[in-house]
Amino acid sequence: MARNILVTGGAGYIGSHTVLQLLLGGYRVVVIDNLDNSCDIAIKRVQELAGPEYASNLSFHKIDLRDKTALGKIFASTKFDAVIHFAGLKAVGESVAKPLLYHDNNLIGTINLLEIMVANECKKLVFSSSATVYGWPKEVPCTEEFPLSAANPYGRTKLFIEEICRDVYLSDSEWKIILLRYFNPVGAHPSGYIGEDPHGTPNNLMPFIQQVAVGRRSALTVFGSDYATSDGTGVRDFVHVMDLADGHIAALCKLSDPSVGCEVYNLGTGKGTTVLEMVAAFEKASGKKIPLVMAGRRPGDAEVVYASTAKAERELKWKAKYGIDEMSRDQWNWASKNPYGYGSPKSGASLIAHI
Ligand code: UD1
Repeated sequence: MARNILVTGGAGYIGSHTVLQLLLGGYRVVVIDNLDNSCDIAIKRVQELAGPEYASNLSFHKIDLRDKTALGKIFASTKFDAVIHFAGLKAVGESVAKPLLYHDNNLIGTINLLEIMVANECKKLVFSSSATVYGWPKEVPCTEEFPLSAANPYGRTKLFIEEICRDVYLSDSEWKIILLRYFNPVGAHPSGYIGEDPHGTPNNLMPFIQQVAVGRRSALTVFGSDYATSDGTGVRDFVHVMDLADGHIAALCKLSDPSVGCEVYNLGTGKGTTVLEMVAAFEKASGKKIPLVMAGRRPGDAEVVYASTAKAERELKWKAKYGIDEMSRDQWNWASKNPYGYGSPKSGASLIAHI
């Protein structure tokens, strides 16, 4: 019998791709999302991509995790085997301007979720953490044992939630918790029908490049060209969102392993790519020239960050399959089909009509 999984934030970027892989893997999925930085069209498209055999295994509820009553009703209606918790605010700059909003939304939301899980005897959790918890790493690749720090309120919410999860596990060893530290998620489903659609001006590199390519912005500002790297620009570990989605399935399977307590895994490729290398890969995939404006370093940015993937490979049996060419190809496929994200003219229409 298929297992029941609750996915918080399942209409978002990584959430929607993971929900699709869950459905195709035979899981029954309940998504809750407050749609603050996501869109219910993503849910409809996931159902269409999953096809008639699996689509009915997905249900969606517009719920904010801070609404305990609504959350309680969801748990009363379904016995969940595990929860994958993506829901959270994630814009670094906004978190500096509105720290209380970030702590309220991300921390209170998570505490509510954990309390309701305890009340309903559901003690299996996969949580979306981030490589941001490594702060400014002194060396690379980052292993899971590196010291943790946070450079901004957003990063602190990830760090605090990790600590809360560790405390919850220490209080009750029946819990099984996996904390996944993503590096830089990019790309989209190869169909081009689901992808990242940030509200407002994108903070991250790839959505910005994408908006330049489709003509929504005139140029990419490159933050820093004087780093001690091959071309002077920052180095990151870009990882395809489909690989990340598969990483969540691997983590979910791992939760059944009796040896699991509260574990942490990096999800990255283990390879560093400079900003200019990523721009070149995207230009090749899209055939579009990306005009650049060279600027100073962005405050808070690290020079070089990439993952050690040994632990995930060894214990989750997960390894990223895609490189930056595939990431760029799929990002462009999504961008060219949906230049205004889910707000693009055809976005409300059935995808079946387009394929
Ligand atoms: C950023 C956040 C991090 C968060 C992660 C994923 C900061 C300081 N860090 O990480 O906390 O977990 O996103 O959401 O914001 N770049 C440009 N021009 C741009 C955008 C980015 O040159 O318009 C450069 C950056 O300087 C960096 C690289 O591209 O060298 C990657 O930037 P970004 O995509 O924002 O990711 P991170 O900085 O790794």
